[in-house]
This record gives sequence, structure tokens and C-alpha cells, in this order.
Amino acid sequence: MAAADSVPSYADLILQSLMRLPQLVKIHQPNNKIFVDNLEIFRTALRRGWEEFPEFTLRAHRGRIFLNSSKLNPSTPAMNVTLAKLMENWEALGFHGFRFLKKDDLGDADVVAFVRKLNACRNQGEPGTWLAGELKDSWVQPVVDQDFKLAVTFAPGAAGSGGARPLVWNAGTRTLAVKARKSYSRALAVVTNLEDKLLNGDAVSIAKSRRVVQDMVESLFQEERLLLNLSTIRDYDDYTCTHCVNVAILAMCLGKRVGLGKIAVVTLGLTGLFHDLGKVDIPIELIRKTAKFTREEYELVKNHSLFSVIRILQINAEHKLKSKLILAPFEHHLGIDLAGYPISDKHSPVSLFGRIVAIADHYDALTSSRSYRPVPMNPEQALDIMTSLSGKALDPLLLKVFINMVGIYPIGTLLVTDTREVAMVAETPPDAVDARPLAYLLEKSEGCIIKGELVNLSDLDEAGNFKRNILRCFHPSDFGLNPADILL
Ligand SMILES: [Fe+2]
Ligand SMILES: [Fe+2]
Repeated sequence: MAAADSVPSYADLILQSLMRLPQLVKIHQPNNKIFVDNLEIFRTALRRGWEEFPEFTLRAHRGRIFLNSSKLNPSTPAMNVTLAKLMENWEALGFHGFRFLKKDDLGDADVVAFVRKLNACRNQGEPGTWLAGELKDSWVQPVVDQDFKLAVTFAPGAAGSGGARPLVWNAGTRTLAVKARKSYSRALAVVTNLEDKLLNGDAVSIAKSRRVVQDMVESLFQEERLLLNLSTIRDYDDYTCTHCVNVAILAMCLGKRVGLGKIAVVTLGLTGLFHDLGKVDIPIELIRKTAKFTREEYELVKNHSLFSVIRILQINAEHKLKSKLILAPFEHHLGIDLAGYPISDKHSPVSLFGRIVAIADHYDALTSSRSYRPVPMNPEQALDIMTSLSGKALDPLLLKVFINMVGIYPIGTLLVTDTREVAMVAETPPDAVDARPLAYLLEKSEGCIIKGELVNLSDLDEAGNFKRNILRCFHPSDFGLNPADILL
């Protein structure tokens, strides 16, 4: 699959058609030009697919879409959203995707009949089962079984067997990496300084925060992974400030993924940076408390969303900007079902920024050590918990895009292999979360853990088998390690 090609892949076109045609068939006659053109796009894409495979499957699995057993890499932010919506539809209808069997004489009438059935299944008690029955022996069939095995594949140009290199390989990327690291450190300093000033009642300007977020956005639009990686590597230091910076970064990355422009991403980054500013008004003993909160304590902690709004309003900035910054911090614990806090009469849906910040906030909180949960979760566990909150606290579409973005082996994850080695992930192929990462083997030297050889977990031995298979993944703190010490 050539995700990087400027020409959309046939799989992209088929998926787009599966979104578009059920709508078009409802509003147009079969001879309508727009409808006919779209039918032709679908049939041409299918023919291209059948040239490669006489039978192929497009299916959703754990928030991603696969062509047969290879994960598809969305070619554009818009495609990310299309895929997320499509997966949502399929899930609601009780199937996972479609199997396409070669039909040489496939005509418009065949496609129209299929699309009408796809629409009709929505009115059935068990849409997936009904559709499978209706399309039995047809050229297209819904995938209703769960039996699915991943193939380990790499997008062209990404790390793959042979020739794989970590991101910091060429001088240009190294310069960008240094810049990203500086922005991250400056962002930490800005948050610390901001909190100190607010607590002392000193005047606070937004200028520094805006500058550091703008720098991060520049870095993000040049090479997303550098900042994303830093948010994973650095979250093991001091929780309070790193959390705000990480939430800003994760939110900005997600915002970019769903197609927001630079100016909107800067505003989004600032909301991430300020979302927990109100915690300065919560007694520090409560923030650091390891035991469960009493009811009264919890009520007090819940005020921090509202306090964040009040603190943001105290910052010297244009009113127009501040009005854009207060909503997401207010909403970040509300949930799309509005079942969280603060409890209010507000019944309007949670804003896009609020939904994005909530996802970033959940992920960073779950994968960081907190006073009440010293052992953080590994990304897979965190994403599982977040998936269980899909449609309740968290927006399902954004969550799918997010899962695709962070993957299950972020930089710094510890892997135990079947060769009895422990390795730390140094690089994962972009947009290929199920692909195998590059990792440094960890060795013991004079009682210290040191970075050993960089290995590519996709490397094969002479018999064509993987040299190393991942048995388990751990959070680095499980082994008392700080990835920054090893990777930076
Ligand atoms: Fe919060
Ligand atoms: Fe937070």
C-alpha cells in the first residue's frame, strides 16, 4: 500500500466510496452524473484491487483498517477521519469490514444493489447477520468473524526489514530533534514559571506560553514524531509540569491529525498547557495524596476545572484569545456524555478542543506515575481502558485517530523478547502501529543498565523467521528505568 503516493490507493478509494455511496444512493437517481461518476470510481478501484488480489478484505481491527492482513496508513488527515467514521459505522452495524471477490462483469446495477442492501440493513434487528445472509455468494460480503491475524508490514520508506534506521539518522532530522527538545524544556520552564507567578499574585503575560507553543507547532508540522516521542520519553520526571506539556503536545498532534491548521493548533496547544492550571488552587497535600480521596476531598479536587478557567482569565492576553482558551479546560473532565464534572446546567455538546484535550489528558494520566498510582500503565493497557470509555467519556472518532497516532509501542517502551533480551523502543515506523519497532538492547555493566546494540525487530534470520519476537511489553518504570537516561 503506497500511503505516501499522491494518487490515492485503491483501498482509500474503496473506503471513501463505502462512506459516500450509501448517501448518494438515497438522494440521486441511478442515472445522475455525480452518482454515476462515484460508481465508476468504486468499480475502477475494485478492479485495481482485484489485479493485485482476486479476493481481498478491508476490515477494522483494534481501531485500525487492514487490507488483508496489512495495516493501511491513512494518506491525509481527512482520510483519518473517514476511516474513523467508517469503523464507527461498521461497529454499530455488527460487522468488521468487507470481503471483495473478483467479478469480471461487475456493473453499476450490482453496486447499486449492494449499496441499497447496506442501507437497508440498518433497519434490521441484527444488521451484520442480515447483510451476511443477503450477500451470501455475492461478490461482496460483510466480515462478521473475528478471526484475524496481523502480518507485520511496513509502509514504504518507513523502517522495514533491512535498511531500517532510527529517526535521528540524518543531520537534518537531528537538528529538528534538538530544536524539539529545546522547545519541550522551555515549555516545562514556562509552565513552572506561570504557576509560580499566579500563586504569588504577580502579573502573567501569555507571550512566553504562546511563543513556546508556536515553536512546538512549527516542530510538529515539520516532523510530528519528534515531539510525540518527547512526550513519551519525558513523562517520567516531575509529574505536574510534564503532564501539562505532554497534554499540550498530544492534543496538538491529534488536532493536526484531524486536519486543524497551524493557528488552531496553537490555540489548542495553549488549552492543553493551561487545562490543569487551576490545580494551583487545590491544597498540595491533596494533589500529592496517595490514599483514596474522601468525598469532601474529591469535591474539592473537582473544582480544578473551574479554577483553571479563573486562572486563565487572570493571564494578560487579548480577550478574544482568552475566550477561546477557557472552554476546553472547563470541559476536560466533563465527558461527551456530560456525566463528569463540573456539574452544570450546560447541555451543549463538549467542544472539539474539549474532546481532544480529554483524550490527551486521559492518556498522559494513565501512562504516567501518579501519587496514587506509582506504577503507570503501559500504552496497551492505557488504550484498552480508554477504549472502554469510548462513546461515554471520550469521543469515539477522535479516540480511533488517537490510537492510530500513538500506537502500542511508543518510544521508551520496554520489550522482553523470546531471545531472553530486554530492549527499549527507540523508533517505531510512522503510522504503522502494528509494525515492529527498532529498539536498543539493554545490557548490564558494572551494576548499571546501559544502551547496547540497536536492533530492528523486523529482521529475519536465514530461515525467514523473525530473529526476535516480542513476548511482553512493560512501562520503563517497571524496571526502574527512565527512558530519557538511555535514549537522549
Ligand atoms: Fe484535570
Ligand atoms: Fe490533566
